Amino acid sequence: MNWGMKNRLSQLIQPDGHCFFLPIDHGYFQGPTTCLERPGETIKPLLPYCDALFVTRGILRAAVDPGNTKPVILRVSGGTSVIGKDLANEAITTSIEEIIRLNATAVGISIFVGSDYEHESLTNLGDLVNVCEDYSIPVMAVTAVGKELEKRNARYLALCCRIAAELGARVVKTYWCEDFDRITNGCPVPVVMAGGPKCETELEVFEFVYDGMQKGAVGVNLGRNVWQNPHPVAMARALRSVIHENYTAKEAYDLFNSLK
Ligand code: 5RP
Repeated sequence: MNWGMKNRLSQLIQPDGHCFFLPIDHGYFQGPTTCLERPGETIKPLLPYCDALFVTRGILRAAVDPGNTKPVILRVSGGTSVIGKDLANEAITTSIEEIIRLNATAVGISIFVGSDYEHESLTNLGDLVNVCEDYSIPVMAVTAVGKELEKRNARYLALCCRIAAELGARVVKTYWCEDFDRITNGCPVPVVMAGGPKCETELEVFEFVYDGMQKGAVGVNLGRNVWQNPHPVAMARALRSVIHENYTAKEAYDLFNSLK
């Protein structure tokens, strides 16, 4: 791995080998998501606790202060919406010139394994890797399930993550599930966990994050369970304690309750 690639990855994955990415990219297919109507306001108090932002170029330009931010993982796939025909029919939306202009530390793209657009999304990933590797920009593959949340099981997600790594992703983002080690054991690049829809309780969030970390995840890319919580700062701080300070789920929950 060359110096540029190592440098970018080490801005994302911290010296302890762990990371906390904060995604605010949801609007690219679902519009003004609850608590993300004004993303600039949402992220302001949370930035100190995260290691990177996952964001589209439009929200980056409109809502993120270029003088005071964290490394940026630029969401560069899209072209679909929640009211359209098929969420899986994505294309690459952002040129390499724009990725460089915006000083992205990495880029992110969704893949839809098993969908009608499996081939297109996987060749999009390959094409993006080809271009980004020329500039030592890591590609994070997002194993998307569209509306079919029941696909979030170890057999399916392990398949998706391995394929993403085989095609050149430097980091893979997937959902937490039971037997998460089945995913990390079969994936030769770092795996981060997405949150999915907001959980019923905070303890549930800390439990799945703790479990995934014990089973080989390097961290999280967690959005709704942070900024849709009534106490987003306490949530971010407590999550950080699991990711970077070896807190158990119960200890993180106690910390959350003491801060909220
Ligand atoms: C949306 C995404 C999000 O970045 C990802 O789903 C993580 O956010 P959340 O924790 O809210 O699920 O890729 O397409």
